[in-house]
Amino acid sequence: MKFTYYGHACFSVEAGGKTLLFDPFITPNPLAKEIDAGKIAADFILVSHGHGDHLADVVAVAQRTGATVIAPYEVGTWFEAKGVKNVQAMNHGGAAKMDFGRVKLTSAIHSSSMPDGSYGGNPCGFVVESSDGNFYYSGDTALTSDMKLVGELTKLRFAVFPIGDFFTMGIEDAVRAADFVGVSKFVGVHYDTFPPIKLDHKAALEAARAAGKELLLPAIGETIVV
Ligand code: NI
Ligand code: MN
Repeated sequence: MKFTYYGHACFSVEAGGKTLLFDPFITPNPLAKEIDAGKIAADFILVSHGHGDHLADVVAVAQRTGATVIAPYEVGTWFEAKGVKNVQAMNHGGAAKMDFGRVKLTSAIHSSSMPDGSYGGNPCGFVVESSDGNFYYSGDTALTSDMKLVGELTKLRFAVFPIGDFFTMGIEDAVRAADFVGVSKFVGVHYDTFPPIKLDHKAALEAARAAGKELLLPAIGETIVV
C-alpha cells in the first residue's frame, strides 16, 4: 500500500482505489513548507480529534476535492457547520462500509477540543480495511490495552503511531503498541514539529529494532510502500 507523509500526523494511504488523507496540518507547519496543501489529493479525509494540529487544512481540502470527512461525531458536525458538504460523523466502536472498504473508530486516550474552544467529543483512532490490506492509525493517544482488541479483531499490514512523547506515546510505548496490535512494522508520526516533541531519530530506530520491530520514518513529502 502506498503511504505518503506530509509532516506531523498528516499522511495519506492509497486503499481500495481511493486516497485517504489523515489529520491534515500542512499550511501552519513550517517543516512541511515544501508541501502544497492546494494540490493534495483526497477522496476521504479522516480526522482523529479536534486539535488544531490535526485539522488545519480540512475545510480547504474538502472544498477543493469534494472529499468525504470521516470524524468523531462532534468533530464531524463542527465541519458540517463550517460548510463541508460530505461528512460521516461517527462514534467510537462504530464501523461503516465506504467506497474504499470499511472503517471503524477506536478509542484513544487523549483530549479533544475544537480550535474555537467548542466541545470536540472524544479523540479516536481508525482501523481501515480494504482489498489492498488493513491498517490502524491510533491517533494521538497514550498506550492502552484496548489496542490488543484491534489486533485480535483485524489482521493488520501495518500501523501508524505517534512517537514524539510529551503529548502522546513516546517510542517505548509505541513499540509496545505494535506488539499489542500484532504488527511488525509501523510508521512513526507526531514528532519534531514542536520543541517538546523533538525526536532522536537514531535512538528511536534503534529502540524499535531492539524490540524486533521496524520503525518507518519517511521524509516529509516521501511516498513509501508498506
Ligand atoms: Ni491532540
Ligand atoms: Mn496532536
